[in-house]
Amino acid sequence: MIKSILSKSLVLLFGMTLFYACQKGKMKEIIFPSTDLSSENLIPKPLKIIPTHNAFGLDHTTAIYTSQTDKSFEEVGSFLADKIKSKTNLRLAVNKTDAGQVNRMIFINQSDSEELEGPEAYQLYISKDSIILNAKTSEGAFRGVQTLRQLIPETSNDTLAEMPLWPIATGKILDKPNFEYRGSMLDVARHFFSVDDVKKYIDLLAYYKINALHLHLTDDQGWRIEIKSWPKLTEVGGSTEVGGEAGGFFTQEDYKDIVAYAQQRYMIIIPEIDMPGHTNAASVSYPILNGNGKTPKLYEGTAVGFSTFDTRKDTVYAFIDDVVREISAITPGPYFHIGGDESHVTKKNDYIFFVNKVEKIVQKYGKRMIGWDEVAQADIDNSSIAQFWDSEKNAIEASRKGMKVIISPAKKAYLDMQYDTLSKHGLHWAAYIPVDTAYVWSPESYAGIPKENILGVEAPLWSETISNIDELEYLAFPRVIGYSELSWSTEENRNWENFKVRLANQAPYMDRMNVKFYPSKLIDWKESRFTYKTIQKD
Ligand code: ACM
Repeated sequence: MIKSILSKSLVLLFGMTLFYACQKGKMKEIIFPSTDLSSENLIPKPLKIIPTHNAFGLDHTTAIYTSQTDKSFEEVGSFLADKIKSKTNLRLAVNKTDAGQVNRMIFINQSDSEELEGPEAYQLYISKDSIILNAKTSEGAFRGVQTLRQLIPETSNDTLAEMPLWPIATGKILDKPNFEYRGSMLDVARHFFSVDDVKKYIDLLAYYKINALHLHLTDDQGWRIEIKSWPKLTEVGGSTEVGGEAGGFFTQEDYKDIVAYAQQRYMIIIPEIDMPGHTNAASVSYPILNGNGKTPKLYEGTAVGFSTFDTRKDTVYAFIDDVVREISAITPGPYFHIGGDESHVTKKNDYIFFVNKVEKIVQKYGKRMIGWDEVAQADIDNSSIAQFWDSEKNAIEASRKGMKVIISPAKKAYLDMQYDTLSKHGLHWAAYIPVDTAYVWSPESYAGIPKENILGVEAPLWSETISNIDELEYLAFPRVIGYSELSWSTEENRNWENFKVRLANQAPYMDRMNVKFYPSKLIDWKESRFTYKTIQKD
């Protein structure tokens, strides 16, 4: 069955090429000056690029076809058509047999080629007449679509073609990720961000092949996710934020909306409920949870380490069971993050007792536990994951226990660290992180953890100093684009001088997306993309 559908697709493909050949005599051929696929401004840098120095002309006579074996390939095709529409205003048909005159085609093909290693691998074959994107899964096809989007020039070449045309350099791209987990984190607890803000961030991250968004949903200053069985968490605990503004929270419907939006972009959401410390907002809502011996009050400051759950009370675990159950039920991704950082007022044996118990609750609801690196001190299962942010000792201990580690060292990967002393937002307790420092390091060797124990890289964005999307973008962009390359591209393919040029060329995209990025002076930002000059012959 699959073979017969696939061969039908190939018949279609050859049919299209022949059709184009028949039409050719009547068409004016457009000759592009040397186009070089290997010098395109792709981020993250693909594994292998083989240029053939010609161009595919994307125009209104281009149509998109996809394998019909798996409906999700057609959805990826429609996603590409939507993005081409917003970039070029061309409305390309997807899997239409009556698409009018079709001169060139983009074919998104489900392939069982042995060369495609892993679900996210893809191959892109670009010739003058056709673009073939091969992937085993629609996830791989989606990653390849991001590469293709980046290859479409920001401006058309209108000089010689009768209709606007966007030349795409020809050649072959063979690609797959270096790490399976490529993430960013957004702290919606210190300051709350709206569903639309989160969606915009997801959209931008997906363009750079980031596949995980970790939401820090709770902290001392706010509880930001509706829990139906404990309603005061959001009624009381969600009512304020750092600086005393109104706060806010996601209803479960809002959260599902974010999850679905991310899922359409092949990105998972990792919910974090930070505990046993960082729990003041929960304890204000339900004082029975509190374990620091003080009467909890709403907190609008930025100190850390003063709160804890009472780790020896059954009610606390009944509460956590409800929270993990409700959130896990609306989280399709495999992970649940329990925080576990900076529990400075929890006794060490209570902390270990707590993490051991909560790990079992997370597993009961079918999720793999992630915790900040401190959790490695507990008697933890090797299926759980440690997120290295501070202590190399903890990270190495996690790896020794057979756990996978997510690499997020504050000194290198924290998006809330200031660029320099003049930065408008951010903190600098770990470091100043200019754009080059953010990029020039190796997650593979940073903490001495064997590569096979590294799940991936995540760049967290804490929100003590930012309260709206413009400020979020100022800290995240352009650095998060570098983290996408640190997690997708191999070490051999990463090079600051080369990256710097490709990064400079992201400005037109960011401008079009209205991203208020930090215009670092280390980068020679491009005003607009290079436009092709073409000559036409009869
Ligand atoms: C952290 O920055 N406290 C994980």
